[in-house]
Amino acid sequence: MSAEIQTQMITVEIMGKQYQVPDGMTVISTMWYTGHQLTRGVGCLGGVCGACATVYRNKDDFALKVGLGCQMRVEDGMSFFMTPYYPAAKPNYRIEEIEHPKEELFKYFPEALNCRNCNACNKVCPQDIDIKGAVKDAVKGDFAAAADKALSCVMCGLCVSRCIAEMAPNMIALYARRTWSVFYATKHERLDMQMERIRSGYWNDEWEKIFALDEAGMKEYCKSRR
Ligand code: SF4
Ligand code: SF4
Ligand code: FES
Repeated sequence: MSAEIQTQMITVEIMGKQYQVPDGMTVISTMWYTGHQLTRGVGCLGGVCGACATVYRNKDDFALKVGLGCQMRVEDGMSFFMTPYYPAAKPNYRIEEIEHPKEELFKYFPEALNCRNCNACNKVCPQDIDIKGAVKDAVKGDFAAAADKALSCVMCGLCVSRCIAEMAPNMIALYARRTWSVFYATKHERLDMQMERIRSGYWNDEWEKIFALDEAGMKEYCKSRR
């Protein structure tokens, strides 16, 4: 006797059109289920790449909400659309040409001083990052604190969509993270040594050996390295 599995169907609205879909799916799987082809706005499916920013409203709720489409379950009555890109200003800088990172922040991001402390960026962030604080730290020249606060930023761009000062807080924090790691972070000698070994081809023979292994050989190899 075969047990019949009942799938509960719910109604969602995607870009203004209603669809019946099985309960329990994420926003992205709902997009696929309803025949939408996603060529942008999907990447890792694990909440890491930030490609799947989604704007939504729940049933009978006026509040506009946001999240990452691969991490959110759709609910009955939910209305949503995906916004994989927000046109943020991206100054073109080369780290190796920067001489004074803290002063040059204002060359590349003069608007960084315009923060009005509205907190909209923090409220919208799906990663719960204090991105407003990171911008403030960067403006104060505390790049270590800015980098620390913005470490889990996935560059989804949602903070850009809400900033009333027309800033891209994520880009300012990224500049602080990049320059902090190059100019101020503690250097780790062993890491530098390994990087140099990779560059000089020290591991090439080992890699060739690994690429030539079949599955059984790979298992043996892994055991031998424990
Ligand atoms: S800081 Fe901005 S870009 Fe980064 S995860 Fe939060 S909302 Fe997305
Ligand atoms: S949204 Fe813009 S103006 Fe408001 S706190 Fe964030 S960075 Fe400042
Ligand atoms: S697909 Fe990468 S965070 Fe959603």
